[in-house]
Amino acid sequence: MKFKTIEWKGDRVRMLDQRRLPQEVRYLDCRSASSVAEAIRSMAIRGAPAIGVAAAMGIALAAKKTRSSNPRVFSKVIEKVCREMRGTRPTAVNLFWAVDRMEKLLERVESDGVHETRKRFAREALQILETDIEVNRKIGMYGRNLIKEGDGVLTHCNAGALATGGYGTALGVIYAARDQGKKFEVFVDETRPMLQGCRLTAWELVQEKIPATLITDNMAGVLMRKGLVHLVVVGADRIAGNGDTANKIGTYGVAVLAESHGIPFYVAAPTSTLDLSLISGEEIPIEERNFAEVTHFRGHPIAPKGVKVFNPAFDVTPHSLIHGIITEQGIIRKPFYKNLRKMFGTRNSKEG
Ligand code: MRU
Repeated sequence: MKFKTIEWKGDRVRMLDQRRLPQEVRYLDCRSASSVAEAIRSMAIRGAPAIGVAAAMGIALAAKKTRSSNPRVFSKVIEKVCREMRGTRPTAVNLFWAVDRMEKLLERVESDGVHETRKRFAREALQILETDIEVNRKIGMYGRNLIKEGDGVLTHCNAGALATGGYGTALGVIYAARDQGKKFEVFVDETRPMLQGCRLTAWELVQEKIPATLITDNMAGVLMRKGLVHLVVVGADRIAGNGDTANKIGTYGVAVLAESHGIPFYVAAPTSTLDLSLISGEEIPIEERNFAEVTHFRGHPIAPKGVKVFNPAFDVTPHSLIHGIITEQGIIRKPFYKNLRKMFGTRNSKEG
């Protein structure tokens, strides 16, 4: 990749400001945990694994900057920051997974002291980043054989290097297939209302010189009917115990279209996106965002004032429409409930 999505700089967290892409490649330096939280809320950084990494780094920053060497005072500060991070965005479980992992380090602060714990926070955040990149490469390796020479592959939103520590999940599969020397075409849904497909996925694919065609979301059906799409691969924000998958709004519609055209629909996600504490997708909290994302385009109104707006940021694709879940541990097939339990037991589960 020619860019870094997020970096730990010791006294600050540097991230590529995704609100400005593709017009401007500008980095944002966050010098406090609150500014990292704001970057997550405002989507300067977004994508399930990437916001997990950002939250972890924000907590590490707070640990670094907290002056007190009293374990109790230190723990109170960190717990407050963890609460702030958990309150930024509700749907992607990777965020909660990363915050829980960081908060767990407080268990040893009394015995090891604040000085040692501070260093441990920074190391843990960096490890979350590095592991995420390795995990994405494995997802790519397991998923790449689903793409055949000459295929048309459709993706929705951005599940690329920008949405992760680096490399990507759904786009990781595409990069890995490209690295095998395969020639194929990627169809990129623009992904209303925030245009992650148009602004971010298309930008990544142009950088990587992968043949890509941008379409508006309402064009996917016609491409499928024409026989131009052979595979759909998308990312995920949270996968329930039965395989139901929350991902960017519009994913469900793509899955229904794929099913009715006999096109395989795959989800690519790290196991940190699994939430086996949930029996089904009905229980996944869906973020609703500001109406202005729908009524305005880059600050300009495009809808009449006063119109009612519905703006959920995610939807849930029922497991029945999903052919497989590509993880760093292999492709999980149906029946998902049984196979997820078999592979992971009650890991990532409140039962565990
Ligand atoms: O609202 P966003 O841009 O954070 O939503 C991102 C998505 O829905 C991605 O598809 C998902 O997080 C997977 S990223 C590897």
